[in-house]
Amino acid sequence: MKISVIGGGYAGLVTGACLSGLGHAVTIVDVDPAKVQMINAKKPPIYEEQLEDLLQKNCGDRLCASTSYESVSNSDLTFICVGTPSNSDGSANLAYVKSACISVGKELKKILNYQVVVVKSTVPTGTTERIVCPWCYNLARKRQARSDLQQTLSFYRRDRRSRISCTRTGSSSGASMTGHLTG
Ligand SMILES: NC(=O)c1ccc[n+]([C@@H]2O[C@H](COP(=O)([O-])OP(=O)(O)OC[C@H]3O[C@@H](n4cnc5c(N)ncnc54)[C@H](O)[C@@H]3O)[C@@H](O)[C@H]2O)c1
Repeated sequence: MKISVIGGGYAGLVTGACLSGLGHAVTIVDVDPAKVQMINAKKPPIYEEQLEDLLQKNCGDRLCASTSYESVSNSDLTFICVGTPSNSDGSANLAYVKSACISVGKELKKILNYQVVVVKSTVPTGTTERIVCPWCYNLARKRQARSDLQQTLSFYRRDRRSRISCTRTGSSSGASMTGHLTG
């Protein structure tokens, strides 16, 4: 499967590296050129158990990073994994999610084939209706592209994420992805 992962931080890079380790062709899309350069050089910008091994094995083959969203229009599945930092009042800052959705929507507009978009960022209830659908899904539907949205929840320990994502088919991200695509 061809997969784009938007956001190459803790959530996105580990998800993408694990999916490439499972045989999928993954493009990590990040706005930070330094992070993209490090990933393509097989050097993890963060520490996670097994992550460096996965980059060494898969970068340049099934895994690459880019600042361009171009890969989205050529993917079967796109994960949105950008950050949602807290505002001073404790609410989630959804600016990065909105920006990512606009960029994904622009790419989906170019295609007619079926695609699934999965929001993996942690977002408050109602974000799909208020931000993701208007900016990503509806934008794409104007050109009759077929796409669906999924929200995943994940609960795993930071230092064990690589192993869990790679091996547990019942993990939240794996379960919702598989369930959706086969359902
Ligand atoms: N860290 C975790 O353990 C974990 C687990 C599950 C879910 N999450 C959720 O996933 C989301 C990401 O968390 P994280 O820890 O990976 O954050 P992070 O800050 O480590 O990474 C976010 C990345 O997104 C990139 N980015 C920002 N805007 C972008 C855009 N418009 N297009 C492309 N890339 C963009 C940033 O450059 C950064 O590399 C958050 O909502 C978080 O709550 C985190």
